[in-house]
Amino acid sequence: MSSTIPFVDLHAQYLSIKSEIDSVIADVISKSSFIRGPYVDKFEQMFADIMERKYCVSCANGTDSLYIAMVALGIQPGDEVIAPAHSWISTSETITQAGGKVVFCDTSPDTFTIDPRDIESKVTSRTVGIIPVHLFGQPADMDPIMAVASKYNLWVLEDCAQSHLARYKGKLVGTFGNAASFSFYPGKNLGAMGDAGAVITNDKILADKMTMFARHGGLKKGDHQIEGINSRMDGLQAAILSVKLPYLLTWTRLRQDRAARYSELLSSVHNVTPPVVAAESEHVWHLYVIKHDKRDELAIYLSKNGVQTVINYPTALPFLPAYKRLGHKAQDFPNAYANQSQILSLPIYPELSDIQMASVVETIGEFKI
Ligand SMILES: Cc1ncc(COP(=O)(O)O)c(C=O)c1O
Repeated sequence: MSSTIPFVDLHAQYLSIKSEIDSVIADVISKSSFIRGPYVDKFEQMFADIMERKYCVSCANGTDSLYIAMVALGIQPGDEVIAPAHSWISTSETITQAGGKVVFCDTSPDTFTIDPRDIESKVTSRTVGIIPVHLFGQPADMDPIMAVASKYNLWVLEDCAQSHLARYKGKLVGTFGNAASFSFYPGKNLGAMGDAGAVITNDKILADKMTMFARHGGLKKGDHQIEGINSRMDGLQAAILSVKLPYLLTWTRLRQDRAARYSELLSSVHNVTPPVVAAESEHVWHLYVIKHDKRDELAIYLSKNGVQTVINYPTALPFLPAYKRLGHKAQDFPNAYANQSQILSLPIYPELSDIQMASVVETIGEFKI
């Protein structure tokens, strides 16, 4: 193989819109609009519009967006929040950060999203909310989740960090729950050139509470109604995201095209389980995650042969040292436990070429167990 196929290629995306990005960065600098300013207002409006929500509250990163939303939802010390056993740790660490208690729920063996059949058994008199994660870009099964939430009067905070523009039964994810959090970490489907995040909602009171908490407890400068935090999207990130947002649908279509091609090519490769897409889902392929019984050996083989891969995530949340205190065992979350040793994320991004994809699949095919 001639050159390494990177797991993500942020430079390729930059080159495709270089003049627009360079000019908007120069504009922010010339106006010194570093904190808030016109680009932040513009991006909040653009993102609310594309997500079909009334309010978008921008903040410093996706982790903060979860924390801010939970505080505004009124979480109290000891309140229980149900979260999937397999996700990035932001989903669960922010529950603790906000004063709540993490209650893990198993994930579905094929789609990797929270298993709705497992949720109801986790509900207790202390449960206040559920955080479904639309993991890897695939929507969680929202109908049964919303049904449990409504039965027990729970709030739903959708973690959309990996799922910009994904749809469940034709409806945008992020529009089902009370609020939805987003990350614009550089490698995300809509990525800034640094950290950035946002929460969207249709609830004005919630939007005001989130804005207030994220801005030192005040909606107006100097008017601190409560103690808050400092979590803001900076002007450069907002300007960059405003340039990128109009391309998001095209990039999403390209990711979907790349994923379809992978699945077609992989269908003739033995021992690989390509990702499963639920019938009601429009997956946006933040990650293309295969399963393989000899995952670790395959990852090493691919790396030696110039294909970068990542494991998202090698240890499901309940089994991390961070949650040792909960004393969970493998059999508490059998699907997440089984998946953690089999999953492997292949390179996927809009600019990934047919030649690169053919090379990735050919290399997987050459791997001998
Ligand atoms: C599922 C999920 N939730 C939350 C986050 C947190 O986002 P950030 O890295 O912007 O804080 C991420 C990002 O990695 C994520 O993948």
